[in-house]
Amino acid sequence: ADSKIYTASTTAPVNIAVIKYWGKRDTKLNLPTNSSLSVTLSQSDLRTHTSAACSSIFTENRLYLNREPQDVSGARQQACFRELRVLRAALEAADPTLPKLSTYNVHIVSENNFPTAAGLASSAAGFAALVRALADLYCLQNTPTELSRIARQGSGSACRSLFGGYVAWEQGHAADGSDSLAVQVAPASHWPGMRAAILVVSAAKKDVSSTSGMQATVATSGLFRHRAEVVVPARMEAMKAAIQKRNFEAFAELTMADSNQFHAVCLDTLPPIFYLNDVSRAAIRVVEEINRVAGKSIAAYTFDAGPNCVIYYEQENEAAILGVLKPYTSGVSGWGDRRETVHARIPEGF
Ligand code: PMV
Repeated sequence: ADSKIYTASTTAPVNIAVIKYWGKRDTKLNLPTNSSLSVTLSQSDLRTHTSAACSSIFTENRLYLNREPQDVSGARQQACFRELRVLRAALEAADPTLPKLSTYNVHIVSENNFPTAAGLASSAAGFAALVRALADLYCLQNTPTELSRIARQGSGSACRSLFGGYVAWEQGHAADGSDSLAVQVAPASHWPGMRAAILVVSAAKKDVSSTSGMQATVATSGLFRHRAEVVVPARMEAMKAAIQKRNFEAFAELTMADSNQFHAVCLDTLPPIFYLNDVSRAAIRVVEEINRVAGKSIAAYTFDAGPNCVIYYEQENEAAILGVLKPYTSGVSGWGDRRETVHARIPEGF
């Protein structure tokens, strides 16, 4: 009998949306009510590292995240395992000499180098790495777009972390989700000067999970419907054009407007959802001030389902932007000297 242990390891990056995904039309398959678009951050700063192993001698599926055992019975994990096994089984059916990995249990070990579930898209990198690691373990030849269909079922935003650079998740219309997929809009090399700074306002776990928040929004917000039907379709096109032209001002203005509307939709939910706090709002005012002094938008803030601020800017403006932010971030114990990450506490009254 085959008692060999097969292994594969990979990393997946965090992505931060500039056109936000918020709302599901199918909660089981994670099918969204609008398309979204994100920038994938550099793997040297924020990433999940995942190793996957399988063997006939493993008696159960296991998953460890940052050394803590996780529940693998959840529907999202099970969907990813099941879909990848189906693809592997098809290879085995076509070539009977292949080991029957699709019948073996898997052990998965994941490490994030950033706080988990703090609104820093940890589930995106996590599920993207899980899918990539299993796809590699199973020697699947599927494209990242094909794998995005599976990662999406783990966490919607995870489908975008299978690519670097600028990534669109096209919402699709099919009931089975076959056309709700991620595609690369442009590689990172298309816009070499693009940078992101992350102001870690709080590393605590978020209050309202994105899944329950989205459900409440879809059920109660009228503003949400306007956003999904009217605003986002036009903004997706405008954002793709801004990226193609490397037009930072347009990119920044669309990014800030979309973050603001996402949080407005949260506020329009019953009961209202508050992800931003006073420090987040102070960060918005700092960025507005930077742009006012510059006479144009050279920095763009965006916030996901938590208070942490991501600021996009171009390398040529790094000194000016980080210089303005520095007085507000110094003296705070942070995450070492990772270039993209500053641990921020902006004093009251800004
Ligand atoms: O993938 P989820 O279920 O964690 O949802 C992510 C939602 C936002 O981060 C707020 C927006 C986005 O597009 O990433």
